[in-house]
Amino acid sequence: MRSIIQQKLTLFTAVLIIASVAIAATFVAAGDDQKEHRVAAEHAARSFMTQLQGVLMKELREGGPVQALSVCADTAQILTHNAATDLGVSIKRVSSRIRNTENAPDAFERHILDLFSGMHEEGSEPPFIHTEERTVNGQREFWFMQSIHVQPQCLGCHGSGDQIASNVKTMLNERYPEDEALGYKPGDFRGAIRVSFPLQNNNGRN
Ligand code: HEC
Repeated sequence: MRSIIQQKLTLFTAVLIIASVAIAATFVAAGDDQKEHRVAAEHAARSFMTQLQGVLMKELREGGPVQALSVCADTAQILTHNAATDLGVSIKRVSSRIRNTENAPDAFERHILDLFSGMHEEGSEPPFIHTEERTVNGQREFWFMQSIHVQPQCLGCHGSGDQIASNVKTMLNERYPEDEALGYKPGDFRGAIRVSFPLQNNNGRN
């Protein structure tokens, strides 16, 4: 019961976050200010991650990993899809080693993930950020990606061997038979969060 109410609250907060980003995006579009777009996107990414981690840690504390797993899986998808697409701001978590096939990267996202992975291998200081203005189906859009790295508290669901409790393993096997998001260590490059939103089209200009 509680988790349904919680998910509704979470969804409501997500709508607020996304609405404020949409407003910020429209607001700055006239000035065409890259920096402001980036700030808006960064804010959305941070709010999303803070919120998701908040739910995750609370559920882990109160109900253990199995409860956290079921709540977080649903919350992540609700947050990612419904609210975001309704308001024209899209937020997605992507990875080259996915647990949920819904989080598979498209060609552009894969390219940036590869760049980030290279930066990780070179020992660059995380997080890695990429921003770009792109035209997608005739619409100018601002795209923002920021790397996600593994922390010790992720290992109960993304680690290896007995770091993952057997009931969690069972549930992961059932829900995600093709799970690739295992065997990580703290500090590993895990994937990225992507935020994108439409910009005003330049009439005749480029
Ligand atoms: C309680 C179990 C649990 C914990 C702890 C956990 N995750 Fe996950 N993670 C999941 C599940 C379940 C999914 C698939 C959710 C979905 O449908 O988006 C997932 C998906 C992801 C994804 C999206 C890409 C993919 O593989 O589908 C990323 C990125 C991610 N987790 C990063 C992390 C990081 C970083 C941490 C630690 C801060 C963490 N996770 C902790 C269970 C967990």
